[in-house]
Amino acid sequence: MIIAVDGPAASGKGTIARALARHYGLPHLDTGLLYRAVGLNLLRWGGDPDSEFAAVRACDFAQIDFDDPELKSETVGGLASRISVYSLVRETLLSRQQEFARQTGGAVLDGRDIGTVIAPEAEAKLFVTASPEARATRRHAELVRMGKAVHYDDVLLDIRARDERDMGRSTAPLLQAADADLLDTSDMTIDAAVQRAIALVEARLQRS
Ligand code: DC
Repeated sequence: MIIAVDGPAASGKGTIARALARHYGLPHLDTGLLYRAVGLNLLRWGGDPDSEFAAVRACDFAQIDFDDPELKSETVGGLASRISVYSLVRETLLSRQQEFARQTGGAVLDGRDIGTVIAPEAEAKLFVTASPEARATRRHAELVRMGKAVHYDDVLLDIRARDERDMGRSTAPLLQAADADLLDTSDMTIDAAVQRAIALVEARLQRS
């Protein structure tokens, strides 16, 4: 069983995907980490994110520790969003994600194009979203908790810029698959969103 969870930045898709993985006892892949790893390599190597060639060369995970907190930084997230527009980068990361998705027993993957490109055959697909303001409020609170001095308005601008890039790119843009269930978490607590996600997946599995 493959469960695909897609959605924009700070929509809650990661939390929901992790909870679904726990609930069904499945392995989970946060595919954003792969794009972030490419961004981190460029940052460390001084590579030019405007060069597709440099970005493809940075698709090398030998030196990457996927538990490194730097992968989660805003700088690396911005770089990840920039290099994710290149079709050669997306192609290079494709097989790794598809192997994970198709492992025996199934998997949960979250990202932007899981239900549309990586695993269109997924048994259950969720498109998790929330208003830009709700997402900025969450991301701002998270950054403040981490001790970062940031303004809400800057976080909102950043989220809008990221949405525009992730939705506007020509290769595998962020969009809801025709057969995905929409889950808008704007006015939901994390627990309520997770319960709703489980209910939606259950309903899908019963129908298939
Ligand atoms: O989910 P995230 O914020 O960690 O993702 C960082 C960036 O990586 C995101 O802005 C776009 C890109 N990405 C992508 O293009 N496709 C995916 N499946 C996952 C992430």
